[in-house]
Amino acid sequence: MIHAVERPQAHTPTHCTAEQYAEMYRASVETPDAFWLEQAQRLDWVKAPTKGGEWSYDPVGISWFADGQLNLCHNAVDRHLPQHADRTALIFEPDDPASPGRSLTYGQLHTEVVRMANALKKLGVKRGDRVTLYLPMILEGVTAMLACARLGAVHSVVFGGFSPEALAGRIEDCGSRFVITADEGLRGGKHVPLKANVDAALALTAHATPVDGVLVIRHTGGAIAMQEGRDHWLEDLASDDDCPCEVMGAEDPLFILYTSGSTGKPKGVLHTTGGYGVWTATTFHYIFDYQPGEVFWCTADIGWVTGHSYVVYGPLFNAATAVVFEGVPNYPDHGRFWDVVDKHQVNIIYTAPTAIRALMREGDHHVTCRSRASLRLLGSVGEPINPEAWRWYFDTVGEGRCPIIDTWWQTETGGCMITTLPGAHDMKPGSAGLPFFGIRPELVDSEGGVLDGAAEGNLCITHSWPGQARTIYGDHERFGQTYFSTYAGKYFTGDGCKRDADGYYWITGRVDDVINVSGHRMGTAEVESALVLHPKVAEAAVVGYPHDIKGQGIYCYVTLKAGEDGSDALLAELKAHVRKEIGPIATPDIIHFTDGLPKTRSGKIMRRILRKIAENDFGALGDTSTLADPSLVERLIEGRQNA
Ligand code: PRX
Repeated sequence: MIHAVERPQAHTPTHCTAEQYAEMYRASVETPDAFWLEQAQRLDWVKAPTKGGEWSYDPVGISWFADGQLNLCHNAVDRHLPQHADRTALIFEPDDPASPGRSLTYGQLHTEVVRMANALKKLGVKRGDRVTLYLPMILEGVTAMLACARLGAVHSVVFGGFSPEALAGRIEDCGSRFVITADEGLRGGKHVPLKANVDAALALTAHATPVDGVLVIRHTGGAIAMQEGRDHWLEDLASDDDCPCEVMGAEDPLFILYTSGSTGKPKGVLHTTGGYGVWTATTFHYIFDYQPGEVFWCTADIGWVTGHSYVVYGPLFNAATAVVFEGVPNYPDHGRFWDVVDKHQVNIIYTAPTAIRALMREGDHHVTCRSRASLRLLGSVGEPINPEAWRWYFDTVGEGRCPIIDTWWQTETGGCMITTLPGAHDMKPGSAGLPFFGIRPELVDSEGGVLDGAAEGNLCITHSWPGQARTIYGDHERFGQTYFSTYAGKYFTGDGCKRDADGYYWITGRVDDVINVSGHRMGTAEVESALVLHPKVAEAAVVGYPHDIKGQGIYCYVTLKAGEDGSDALLAELKAHVRKEIGPIATPDIIHFTDGLPKTRSGKIMRRILRKIAENDFGALGDTSTLADPSLVERLIEGRQNA
């Protein structure tokens, strides 16, 4: 394979050269315990660990630093106070650029976190309790996560774009008795009724999981209902009383984050304290090559793992200055990202290909009329970045000065896993690059045979790493089944991948029934379940298809109950129905009414055929002879051409 290689001139690596990477990588795989116990010293421990990784993939049990004790809120905040109390920790950039922003020094962050933690205590939150956060991208989102960590409570952040139904499911699944929310959120000038959504969700969970307390942050000042005894304003419960950090075991849970799988309802991925802490601290240091005084901006929402690891924990463990952005890339215009970069002199930006593609489409002038001189490093995450978008990011946004790091990782991996290191490695547009320290990727064929050298296969990771998820909350069996049973003895990522002759990895996308819509992970099964809840729908099959901006769009094949008609009105009704059940991010792009779904004679839906038809790839349908009704394929192709 011949690939363009890029090497920007301006960047001199300070944390790791190519030679140091090679040496450290070798040490990390040859003597992982010694390597990670040394990296663990990036954190402050109450009791330093003596144990490294103790793990098995059959049966599945994973622990790192098991005898260590620490608190991650202390590591993110308190420990910086002696030297960096006056350093800016967080810069808040509001949705409306005309609204006043706000920033917090580490000293002020400490005060805010303590106030939030005291409020949670008054609400009744104790060590080990699960606390659901349903918040906009505001500073209180960060302080709420840190306050939970301070008390030893387990945060479960639910993205503010999810519906009350989806929120209710996530509250019930982890038996959370506390919710932290805001009156409203703001996104692109629109008000998001967060508290009203919480009220609707709690009405749904009232019998199974009665919630004891809701802490409400006043953000927009919009009118909301407060339920006596249950709902409390933050300012009424907050206090400056002394609030020491709980001493946590390294393997005590830190957070649950729900993510989509190929089957069933979303899984509560559980991360613990020590390993996740070391992983996010170490990856942030090396991958972003962060220098003291620099401003780092990860544009992800705290409702996703990228926000957890690189808006909150990674930067704050490193005493960095991080931007918290409430808004969206196209409001008030398509130059907003670069306005924020100039306003706060951002040095490192970390965003998603879907945003890059959307901005690229609007033309260069939105970029070139802003300075961007402060930028030094550009990051990408969440989905494969197509070479065209990569080039635009590199040439137009970064003017060829700034390296791009294309970081591949997952909710389950805790932090970045495959990426080049800035300045140290050549970049190849479209390739994530090389494994981070301790990561041993393996490509396997569908029978599990290991592929050597340049090859294409399914991406597995063979050895545990500190940031690895430990379980699915409440369902350890499903954890084993989902990740460790496809290929015995390996963690299976669900991604397809190529490796070239230089050992660079090229992620090709999911090979399971998970789709990636605008960098958001969506289970096709979830959308199908939502569709069949509609009284007029008989059956539904959902697949992804290539989408210029979103990466993948949601394509739904729907059969209706007898006597129902696939009208435009029903089409709109079904789209609205899915939005209500899951949230706007799950809105179907295409609904294709059909009189049947292609099935084998034993009744199994042939998704391969549905995917090909959705991709407009009619020549490659493969063997259709096992179909119960082969003529259906012709009708589906005809329907696709009209869809
Ligand atoms: O398919 C891969 C894709 O996103 C999936 C993980 O999604 P999620 O758990 O929501 O985490 C996203 C943010 C870390 C992966 O299985 N993915 C993530 N990063 C990349 C990527 N695909 C290609 N290149 C990437 N850099």
